[in-house]
Amino acid sequence: MSAESPLIQSLRTAVAAAPQDVPLRLHLAQLLLDAGAADAAVAEAAVALQHAPGDAQARALMARAMGVPAPGPATTAPAAPASSTPAPASSTPAPQRGFDWKAAEEQIGDAVPPRFVEPEAPLTEDGSGDPGDAAAWDVEVPGAVRLADVGGLQEVKDRLEAAFLAPLRNPELRRLYGKSLRGGLLLYGPPGCGKTFVARAVAGELGAKFLSVSVNDVLDMWIGNSERNMHEVFETARRQAPCVVFLDELDALGGKRSRTHSSGMRNTVNQLLTELDGVDAAANEGVFVLGATNVPWDVDLALRRPGRFDRTLLVLPPDAPAREAILRHHLRDRPIENVDLGKLVKLTEGFSGADLAHLCESAAESALLDSARTGTVRMIGMKDLLGAAKQLTPSTEPWFASARNVALYANEGGQYDDLVAYLKRKRRL
Ligand SMILES: Nc1ncnc2c1ncn2[C@@H]1O[C@H](COP(=O)(O)OP(=O)(O)OP(=O)(O)O)[C@@H](O)[C@H]1O
Ligand SMILES: [Mg+2]
Repeated sequence: MSAESPLIQSLRTAVAAAPQDVPLRLHLAQLLLDAGAADAAVAEAAVALQHAPGDAQARALMARAMGVPAPGPATTAPAAPASSTPAPASSTPAPQRGFDWKAAEEQIGDAVPPRFVEPEAPLTEDGSGDPGDAAAWDVEVPGAVRLADVGGLQEVKDRLEAAFLAPLRNPELRRLYGKSLRGGLLLYGPPGCGKTFVARAVAGELGAKFLSVSVNDVLDMWIGNSERNMHEVFETARRQAPCVVFLDELDALGGKRSRTHSSGMRNTVNQLLTELDGVDAAANEGVFVLGATNVPWDVDLALRRPGRFDRTLLVLPPDAPAREAILRHHLRDRPIENVDLGKLVKLTEGFSGADLAHLCESAAESALLDSARTGTVRMIGMKDLLGAAKQLTPSTEPWFASARNVALYANEGGQYDDLVAYLKRKRRL
């Protein structure tokens, strides 16, 4: 990259200082492409896609950089060859300069660019023929994720099985126990540790559809709209039954972090209670309610009473088998070599699932940047992964700091006994 313009050079510096800034990186990529450095542009677009897999602009740029030469005026200018990589017998007549991207692409497989944004991407369910409704609350079709896909967390799975799934699997039993099974299960725990993932897996286990709603999305600035939204969520679920309704950020109804004023909030809570109780219980046949929150102590007390979200399930940071599964999952489609998973698992105690995903991404990024710098694609190795691990601190720490206070001073009725037991086991109490 000897002949880079000053503009490109300073953009490079800026990007290095703000590696997460996708628009900035795309700007750099575009300039590189315009300057005829398609290979370097591909590398930048690839990193941008790591940060924002769905970004349309990044994808378009990537396509342009990899395929047809950019239509800009500068495309005919010969680029300074990035390297003299000996191209391993690629017979395809790819009009690429210097760097053999065809071969590189084959080597690094799915890592650049991601072919699918999300393997379990929600599909819009439109069976009811009510387009307005389907547009408002997306219902995922059943089946994508099962409990077996949740790594480790055996305790969570056992409790789910006993308290929720076994009685529900069988429709006969469900009918029999219908009344006493009313109410939902509240998943709680530190951020990024799999609450949403587990909820989706529960839907998969039940062969039920999955309607995931953030309570913050239900809340509306206009008085009355929140109640109507809440009602529509449940109406959608009833029409699509069997269906798991997953109410994320249930604490948003607690009023402590409210966006609307409190009387509106009260009505929304009441609406939710009405929906949970089912106007007539039969209407809720086949509708299963799960809630999730990072701060169960902020959830409106009315929602925690018997018959409502009276059962809680603590979803903790992934244990060793879970971390292995998560790491394996995120490295699955990436070009890796000699990765010692056992070592990584040991080093990542306390990391959340989201932290682990981030770790894999950073490692891939450093290998990619290296490849772009040297002009030779290299695999992701332990060096990258260990480097990334060193830079990360578990994001669950602050959560445990406040959870500790709750365990110490607010464990009325033993509702946080699970948490207390865990903290004791970890010698934090
Ligand atoms: N036990 C696990 N097995 C496999 N993947 C997991 C596991 N736990 C978490 N993950 C992965 O970690 C990521 C974060 O999980 P998820 O979004 O479910 O966390 P969350 O508890 O809902 O977080 P938040 O509080 O931020 O909503 C997901 O991509 C999920 O695939
Ligand atoms: Mg979540």
